[in-house]
Amino acid sequence: ATATRALFMLFGATGDLAKRKLYPSIFNLYKKGYVDNDHFALIGTGRREWSDETFRDVIVESVSANADSEEQAKSFASHFYYMAHDVTNPEHYDALSDYANKLDQQYDTNGNRIFYISMAPNFFGTVAQNLKAHKCLSDNGGFNRLIIEKPFGRDYDSAEELNNALGKSFNENQVYRIDHYLGKEMVQNVLALRFGNPLIEGIWNNEYIDNIQVTLAEKLGVEERAGYYDGSGALRDMVQNHTIQMLTILAMEDPISFKDVDIRREKIRALRSMRVYTEDEVRQNFVRGQYGANGDQLDYRHEDNVPNDSITETYVAGKVLFENKRWKNVPFYIRTGKMLSDKFTRIDVVFKKPLIDVFAAANGSESELNNNVLTLFVDPVNKIILRLNGKKAGQGMDMQPIELTHTQSDEEKAITPEPYERLIHDAILGNATNFASWDEVSRAWEFADVIRQVWDKDQPNFPNYTPGSMGPDAADELLERDGRAWVFNS
Ligand code: BG6
Repeated sequence: ATATRALFMLFGATGDLAKRKLYPSIFNLYKKGYVDNDHFALIGTGRREWSDETFRDVIVESVSANADSEEQAKSFASHFYYMAHDVTNPEHYDALSDYANKLDQQYDTNGNRIFYISMAPNFFGTVAQNLKAHKCLSDNGGFNRLIIEKPFGRDYDSAEELNNALGKSFNENQVYRIDHYLGKEMVQNVLALRFGNPLIEGIWNNEYIDNIQVTLAEKLGVEERAGYYDGSGALRDMVQNHTIQMLTILAMEDPISFKDVDIRREKIRALRSMRVYTEDEVRQNFVRGQYGANGDQLDYRHEDNVPNDSITETYVAGKVLFENKRWKNVPFYIRTGKMLSDKFTRIDVVFKKPLIDVFAAANGSESELNNNVLTLFVDPVNKIILRLNGKKAGQGMDMQPIELTHTQSDEEKAITPEPYERLIHDAILGNATNFASWDEVSRAWEFADVIRQVWDKDQPNFPNYTPGSMGPDAADELLERDGRAWVFNS
């Protein structure tokens, strides 16, 4: 393992994400020796007045489940320093800068700095600008990298404004925009399967593929996040980012190498061929939903902190088109929602049937052939199933569906890093492959903005789906109209 020396500066250190994901991830990197155990420190900031001791107690608690011993957790936590910080107060950045320089020396971090902003999005730009203005970036030859949490804006204009603010302090190649779906094992495996197998890549086009379906389903409702969620909705929360990123990886052409710049170039090309709809096309091709009540389960409008006339969508389904040679006439259907039948993410690649069914003729009957389907299960298990047509055992030529299945083993699962661990590691290595570039993010907003605008204009008929179902009927009709159906439907 290459151990990287670095000083981390985390904005939002008292937050929930930090405790649940970031500290355990950095701890795992520490345990595995990817962050240099002797040469790293982290300054955490937040509004609260915490002492280093309080902060370290929080760290120990958040990593204890993964620690081999309490000593190990404590010695990890000893690298953590806390500073109460008001992100709008310029003087506080001077203090941060002094502290960072001191720790730089104390830990001999080679001047490498990783800034991580995980706080209310309206402060992202302010923090980034102040960091530069108050010399919090190191200038002695080390690297300066900025990891920034979602949401990256709430539409194209606000995203651009944010990006310009970041641009005053950091170059594009220093900015690591988190999309944790890109840190998922099976999402990365799409690239391995496509570009490592001529058998797959050779038929990865409109000659053989009939349609592709991407489902990001959640069983839970909004829980205690309604304050954020109601102002966002599923389109911004799940489609503009995670779903479009998954589509891009499915649709992109082969990169000339596996370097981040080469992969990004192809992703951007794919996104530029994604059709941005007209208003009428939005109405035809996109469906929104909001969950109603079911038994003890309250309808969305009666959840805590949700206005009882809310028209925020908790579900989106849609048809996406890539207008290029590879994908002409191949619809990509997407759907995501809260309160669905189960928590899972899957990709179903539906292949065309044979042009001629020779078996039907032999049997003097209707075709028994099904579409071949390649299903990639992203969550909660990593699994690949290829559904083929095979012969039913016995006399004659009757057909039956057969499945080839690969399931990730427990050993593999145990060594698979969580998305955050993987992504922070990538940022430490300076590898931006699995982060969203500005060109990708901005194009995704252009696509989502039109849908948002139509939906803000039209009055929805909510609630329109039952908790525990797979969404509104209109989502099924979207495919039926094209003579198709969702592969997963229950
Ligand atoms: C987040 C959304 O980005 O992704 C949440 O804000 C959602 O609303 C979550 O629940 C889903 O992530 P995962 O990894 O649990 O599928």
